[in-house]
Amino acid sequence: MFPATLLRNVLRILIPFAVACTFYLYLYPVFLGCAFPLPQSLEQTEPNTAAAFQDTWRQHVIPSSSNAAPFRLLALGDPQLEGDTSIRNYNREPFLHLTWAFRHLSFQTDQPSLRKRFRQVFHDLVDFWFDDIPDTAESIRKRIDLFGNDFYLAHIYRTLKWWTKPTHVTVLGDLLGSQWIREKEFNRRSWRFWNRSFKGGERVPDEVATYPGEEYELAGLLGVEDSNATAWRSRIINVAGNHDVGYAGDLTVERLERFERAFGKAAYELRFELPITNLEANATVYDAEKNPDSNRLVPELRIVNVNNMNLDTPAADQSLQDKTYAFVNDVINTASAVEYLGHFTLVLTHIPLYKPEGVCVDAPYFTFHAGGGVKEQNLLSADASRGFLEGIFGLNGDPNAPGQGRGRRGVVLNGHDHEGCDTYHYINQTEGDERQWRATRWHSARADGLPGKPEMPGLREVTVRSMMGGFGGNAGLLSVWFDEIDWEWRFEFANCALGRQYFWWFVHTLDLITLVVLAVYGIFQVAAAAGFDIESTTVTTTSNPPVKSNKAQASIPVGSGDAKKP
Ligand SMILES: *[C@@H]1O[C@H](CO)[C@@H](O)[C@H](O)[C@H]1NC(C)=O
Ligand SMILES: *[C@@H]1O[C@H](CO)[C@@H](O)[C@H](O)[C@H]1NC(C)=O
Ligand SMILES: *[C@@H]1O[C@H](CO)[C@@H](O)[C@H](O)[C@H]1NC(C)=O
Repeated sequence: MFPATLLRNVLRILIPFAVACTFYLYLYPVFLGCAFPLPQSLEQTEPNTAAAFQDTWRQHVIPSSSNAAPFRLLALGDPQLEGDTSIRNYNREPFLHLTWAFRHLSFQTDQPSLRKRFRQVFHDLVDFWFDDIPDTAESIRKRIDLFGNDFYLAHIYRTLKWWTKPTHVTVLGDLLGSQWIREKEFNRRSWRFWNRSFKGGERVPDEVATYPGEEYELAGLLGVEDSNATAWRSRIINVAGNHDVGYAGDLTVERLERFERAFGKAAYELRFELPITNLEANATVYDAEKNPDSNRLVPELRIVNVNNMNLDTPAADQSLQDKTYAFVNDVINTASAVEYLGHFTLVLTHIPLYKPEGVCVDAPYFTFHAGGGVKEQNLLSADASRGFLEGIFGLNGDPNAPGQGRGRRGVVLNGHDHEGCDTYHYINQTEGDERQWRATRWHSARADGLPGKPEMPGLREVTVRSMMGGFGGNAGLLSVWFDEIDWEWRFEFANCALGRQYFWWFVHTLDLITLVVLAVYGIFQVAAAAGFDIESTTVTTTSNPPVKSNKAQASIPVGSGDAKKP
C-alpha cells in the first residue's frame, strides 16, 4: 500500500476513536454520573443520584440555583506513593555481570588460571542474560509504572475537584508507600505528592489546625462564599497512616516530625459554623440570657483529625502515645454536652474501628515486634474503638447515661482496608448487662431499621476504598447538611471510581500514537506539496493496468477529467 493513503485510512479510524476515549477519560465523573449526594428528607432511604447529578450540572451553569449540601468532602483513601523501595535495581549498576565479564576479560581481576578466568567470564555472561536483562527490564517497567501512577492519581484528584466541586478535601492516610524510607526518598515522594499527584493542593496551615480547647476560633463558615471558603477548596486535610509514620511500634518523634513538616499536623480539630439565615429559626438558638432553656446550639461541624497509629499498645515511644491519649481526652472534654443539638463530629483517621471477622474484608489482626511494640494491625482493638464510640461520640449502652446514651451526631471516615467498607456500630440497650458493641454493614443496618432507633445508639463508619489503580481509582463523596426542623446534621456518602489504571495508560498511549501518525501523515502531505508527488505517482501506477482495446476508455484522454465533458 501507499503510505499517505494508508495513513489517511488509519487516521479516519484512529482519530474518532482517540477523541472518544479521551473525552470519556477526561470527563469520567460526568459519564459515570458522579455527584455529591443532595440533602434529602429522612423518609427518603435511597439517595436520589439523578437529582444530585442534575444539581452538579446546575452548579456549573447557574451556581446560585444549586441545592448542594454546604459541606462536601472529597475523601481519598491510601494513595501510597511508591518509590525506590519497589524498584529492583535501584542504586545498583544495571548490568553488573557484564561489567564483571569485561573486567575478567581485560585482566583487571585477580585470577591465577586462565581456565578459571574464562569460566568466570562465561558465568557472568550467563548471569547477564538470565539475571541482568530481566532485572533491568522489570526495573524500567516499574519506573514507568510509578511515573504514570503519579499522574493517574492526579487525574482523579483534578477531575473530581473540577466536576463535583467539593468544599473540602481529605486524604485518609498512607500518602506514601513506606515508613522505612530515608530522608532523601521521603522528600522526593513528598515532592511528587504535592507537585504531581495533588498539584494545586496545599497542606493545612499549622495556625489553622488547632488543638482542642474551650475557646476556639472558627476555621470558617459553611455555605458562605468568602476568601476562607476559597482557601479551603485547595487545602488537603492529610491523615497520618502507618506507611507515613509507622504503627505504634515504629512511631518515633523523627518520623512524626518529617510527616508534619511535609503534610501538616497529625492531630487537630477544625470547627466550621453554619450561619442560620432564617431569623425565626435563629431565634430558637440557646442563649444564656435570652433563651436559656433551648437545647439548640449554633450549628457547627467539628472535624477531628486523629492520628490513631499509637492508640494501641505497646508503643515504641511512650510520650508520643501519652500525647495521643491526651489529645483524644481533650477532644472529649471540649465537646458539647450530649443533651444539646446542632453539633456534628466528623472524625478523620486511618485505622478502622474494631469489628468482628466477616463484617469487612480485613479481620482483626495484630503482630508485634520481638522487643514489644505493635508491628502491624488491621483494626483498632475493641478498647481503642470504644474510646471513639463512647468517648468522642458519647454513645452509651446504658439508657440512664446522659442524653439516654444516644450521644452526638457524627461519622468516622478512614482508610487502611484498601477494599473499603461501610459499617454501622450499635449497642442494644434493651439487652441489659449482656449488651455489647456490634457491627454490621450499613446497608443491612438500614434495611433492618437500626439507625435512629431510640434504644439502639449507633454510629456509621465509612472506610473509603483506596484510590490506587489496583482498587479501581476510587474516591469518596461525603455530603453533610443541616436539618433546621429537627436541628440535626445529616449526611450521605457516595463512591466514584475511575477504573483501573490500564484505561488511563491505554488512552494516553493511543493519543500518542495518533499524534505520531498524524505527524507522519503531515510530513507526507508537506512533501507532496513541495513537489514529491507521492499520491499521484501511486495513482498512475494503479490506474494504468495494461488496457485492452476498449473504445470508450481509449477515447477519453488520460487525466482530462470531467471539466472537459460537454
Ligand atoms: C514543588 O515544586 C516546587 C518547584 O520545584 C518546589 O519549590 C516545592 O518545594 C515543591 N513542593 C514540595 C512539597 O516539594
Ligand atoms: C442568629 O442569632 C445569633 C445570636 O444567637 C446572632 O449573633 C446572629 O447574628 C443571628 N443571625 C442572624 C442571621 O440574624
Ligand atoms: C435487642 O435486644 C432485645 C432484648 O434482648 C431483643 O429482643 C431485640 O431483638 C434486640 N434487637 C436487635 C436489633 O438485636
